[in-house]
Amino acid sequence: MARDLAVRYLGHSCFLVTTPKAKILIDPFLTGNPMAAAKAEDVECDIILVSHAHIDHYGDAVAIAKRTGAMIIASYEVALHAGAQGAKVHPMGCGGGRDFSFGRVQLTIAHHTSSVDGPSGVVSVGSPVGFLIQAEGKTIYFAGDTALTMEMELLGKRNQIDLALLPIGDNFTMGPIDAAEAARMLQAKLTVPMHYNTFEMIQIDPQVFVKEAGRHGCKVKVMPVGSTVEIE
Ligand code: NI
Ligand code: MN
Repeated sequence: MARDLAVRYLGHSCFLVTTPKAKILIDPFLTGNPMAAAKAEDVECDIILVSHAHIDHYGDAVAIAKRTGAMIIASYEVALHAGAQGAKVHPMGCGGGRDFSFGRVQLTIAHHTSSVDGPSGVVSVGSPVGFLIQAEGKTIYFAGDTALTMEMELLGKRNQIDLALLPIGDNFTMGPIDAAEAARMLQAKLTVPMHYNTFEMIQIDPQVFVKEAGRHGCKVKVMPVGSTVEIE
């Protein structure tokens, strides 16, 4: 019997997915995010998915992993970078999938960059990815930071996506019009926008996305930070 998944929006691109088997935290950026719904010190989880090494996705991952014992799943170089700081990690490669005790994770293509700003300047750390997460008979697609890409058409064709989480903030990722086209290609039962209004460069009216995606027949929910959706 398929059981419900609860997905809580903690702000920016950070979500906490609760299944009967695990709590999966995606892209924890809570410290330094004025809009965050939780403090990094208070989050409990078993798994942390990190889409790329930019601070607004990777920010609190290592600290939370070390405090909770959660395992970080990320692309190879990001996983090694986190592992070198003492986190438990599982490296994967873009396109690769794996069955874990809680469900399946596949890394998907994201057109973006991945870097850290270290003592010796900005250093590239691996490649950015998105995630296809399958658990309890449900499928969630988390796009990460990405441009609109034709790969999304394939993802939509080959998966019955229950929930698609898409960046809409423009400047660093897809803007609302491109994201609506992504939603059209993905054909998810529900699409939720992310990665907007956290700071000045990604200020956007999410209703532009809601309207445009609606024209494509897509159901969108703008999740207030701190709110939860149940996937049934
Ligand atoms: Ni980024
Ligand atoms: Mn970002």
